[in-house]
Amino acid sequence: MAQNWQPDSWKKHEARHLPQYEDAAELAAAEATLAAYPPLVFAGEARALKADLAEVANGHAFLLQGGDCAESFAEFHPDNIRDTFRVLLQMAVVMTFASKRPVVKVGRMAGQFAKPRSSPTETIGDVTLPSYLGDNINGIEFDPVARRNDPERMVRAYSQAASTLNLLRAFAGGGYANLRRVHQWTLDFMGRTPWTDRFAETAGRIGEALDFMEACGIDPATVPQLQGTSFYTSHEGLLLPYEQALTRQDSTTGDWYATSAHMLWIGDRTRFENSAHIEWARGIGNPLGMKCGPSLEPDALLKLLDTLNPNREAGRMTLISRFGNDKVRDGLPALVRAVKREGHPVVWSCDPMHGNVIKTSTGYKTRPFDRILDEVRGFFEVHRAEGTHAGGIHIEMTGQDVTECVGGAVAITDERLGDRYHTHCDPRLNAEQSLELAFTLADMLNAEVNEQRAADAA
Ligand code: PEP
Ligand code: CO
Repeated sequence: MAQNWQPDSWKKHEARHLPQYEDAAELAAAEATLAAYPPLVFAGEARALKADLAEVANGHAFLLQGGDCAESFAEFHPDNIRDTFRVLLQMAVVMTFASKRPVVKVGRMAGQFAKPRSSPTETIGDVTLPSYLGDNINGIEFDPVARRNDPERMVRAYSQAASTLNLLRAFAGGGYANLRRVHQWTLDFMGRTPWTDRFAETAGRIGEALDFMEACGIDPATVPQLQGTSFYTSHEGLLLPYEQALTRQDSTTGDWYATSAHMLWIGDRTRFENSAHIEWARGIGNPLGMKCGPSLEPDALLKLLDTLNPNREAGRMTLISRFGNDKVRDGLPALVRAVKREGHPVVWSCDPMHGNVIKTSTGYKTRPFDRILDEVRGFFEVHRAEGTHAGGIHIEMTGQDVTECVGGAVAITDERLGDRYHTHCDPRLNAEQSLELAFTLADMLNAEVNEQRAADAA
């Protein structure tokens, strides 16, 4: 257990990106309500995810983490949850087939509300208001009442997270995730994408593999594992009053766990040494993510790893690099080398979203699909050159047919961004772009596994 740590010891450290609440009694009441609510996840599940991630750290599995940039009260609907879950499963099947390894599935879902913002205020015309910080803090509408930080929103977010998680658990275990059906959805997608030719071979081979398994008597009726899947949840551990209220002592081990999600990550803007967020994270037993952007120096990263994972437990740390396609090839190697030299067991995952945001002439924030693919390619190239495992991918996506990122097979243009631009924060890949990414990744995963096999045979 971490030394000199308490669920509230973060309060003695420097906290950035936390909301100021004007009424302390109102905040205390919301915290007390949450503290009396049941945990959303059980510590044993967080340990199971850590064990799965240890396999990724050791090079024997791959991590797929994805979902909304910011969940919202307005987009809360069973169809949205279902469709995002479905696309993640489809991506996972394609990636499992290509890598010949298990894919660990983690949603940015059931708790991903709070956002760090580049400016504390927003100005439209001659009106300046506090920035929108996420639906669990204030409202997105540009008016002073909505933009007030309201602690009661944390209670509503908890309730939305609880019902989202309930539905995800039902889908994962209740037969919806049946492998044959997931492949059928992918065949439907093959009928729609203009890039059918590029993907047909992989899709065809997956179908053949399923046919072969069935001929051998391995099908969902005989092998229950094929009917379901394991699925975990995650979000940025940003809103510490919420996280503290859900930080609980595990009755079986006596250790402290965040029970708001299985995995929590620390963002690029709150991962500085001795920050309140690092202080909170070091004391919880969950698997942790940490974003690594261009401003992170190798020595600072090593210090953070010593703080967050002093026992060098594999599966504890996932380092999520987010450099931008123009910086990943130059910036990432120094971090990878330092971590390898010091022998820290980590999962290296690639967030190709947050370093690739541009603003269009029409005023939309977007991410060009080509840059996203190029950052993923750069990430694989770096790990190949360094002899380390390109272990995962972290994306902002939705199962809906939104128009937020430009490019992809259907070639969403700048002019079309306004058609269905629904995100509450950053632009997400839509369902088809997400699958296009999975098929493109399949080639890279396939190359990695073939190289490893050739090395093993030599
Ligand atoms: C995010 O993942 O939504 C985010 C804010 O990322 P980063 O901390 O890498 O900027
Ligand atoms: Co984002």
